[in-house]
Amino acid sequence: MENPSRPGRRKRYKGTHPKSFDEKYKEHQPSKYAGDIEKIIDKGYTPAGMHRSICVDEILEFLKLSPGQKGLDATLGYGGHSREILKYILPGGILYATDVDPYELPRTAVRFAESGFGDDVLKIRQMNFAGIEQIAAEAGLLDFVLADLGVSSMQIDNPERGFSLKSDGPLDLRLNPLKGKPASELLKSMTSEKLESILSENSDEPHAGIISNTISFAIKNGKPLATTSQMKNCIADALKFIPVHLREETIKKSCQRCFQALRIEVNDEFGALEKFLEKLPVVLAPGGRVAILSFHSGEDRRVKKSFQRFFRDGIYAEVAPDPIRPSVQEISSNPRARSAKLRWAIRNTE
Ligand SMILES: C[S@@+](CC[C@H](N)C(=O)[O-])C[C@H]1O[C@@H](n2cnc3c(N)ncnc32)[C@H](O)[C@@H]1O
Repeated sequence: MENPSRPGRRKRYKGTHPKSFDEKYKEHQPSKYAGDIEKIIDKGYTPAGMHRSICVDEILEFLKLSPGQKGLDATLGYGGHSREILKYILPGGILYATDVDPYELPRTAVRFAESGFGDDVLKIRQMNFAGIEQIAAEAGLLDFVLADLGVSSMQIDNPERGFSLKSDGPLDLRLNPLKGKPASELLKSMTSEKLESILSENSDEPHAGIISNTISFAIKNGKPLATTSQMKNCIADALKFIPVHLREETIKKSCQRCFQALRIEVNDEFGALEKFLEKLPVVLAPGGRVAILSFHSGEDRRVKKSFQRFFRDGIYAEVAPDPIRPSVQEISSNPRARSAKLRWAIRNTE
């Protein structure tokens, strides 16, 4: 038996290539194992517990930051974008940064504190960006706002968060697991019709009907649907009618879309985005700039519509004519960038 007074042994790598999130202890300590981390990134992977920021150059080029500016990174995540922004607004500038995640946010805050960024220059708040007016109430009008929507790699890769299709975990999908209900609970009280509309409206799932019927039938018959694997198996069951040579790929794609659709529902992601977009004109200073990175059509459509409406109303002086896409080089070095679209708007000067 283990001696309770001695610290537990660190998990050992199984072989040279650990697969599970927990075993990747080197990746969880990037400052200690910088060489290993670099090799992983060079191979086009994201190290466990890290997030690689997307479209950094394109965002910086648009924001045209200068020392003394005050702005908001609405989706702090690992803090990669914030770190870059701080280089340009200091000295004299202040960056506010928000995120709903109660687990990753303190880790990011510690990393910033360890690199010398105190609360005088970086003000981190755990909150939903739907309440962006609270930041403006504290900070005054903002020179710039950035939002990099969706989930971070730390959230996706940690099986305990229930976002991962690769390894088993609880079917949770909450960005803030301390609030609201996990996906597994929501599903229990959802009608098949409601689920079908969530799957098709949030993620354009072509097999929404049969998948929602299969899930509802399973729940009614007491089949457990509490883990990501159980959910994947249920989707695979629903798609048994697909010809064998197409089945594996179809199941994979449908699983990705269904998990995304449920995540959007569990976190009311469209509701939060719409509130944020609606309040932006009131929190931006005259000439203030906003950049938003989205990762699927439901997000991009909302951003585009809102920017264009406020442009027609003369509130935005200029908006992105087309979305900016990550470069081919960025996509090949970071496949998670492939669906990103960047849109921007500039507040008029009145
Ligand atoms: C793609 S990551 C951001 C990564 C970050 N830009 C970086 O460079 O590390 C998205 C982050 O936004 C957060 N998030 C998503 N919706 C949010 C909301 N409504 N309010 C605040 N944070 C949110 C997630 O918890 C996640 O940490």
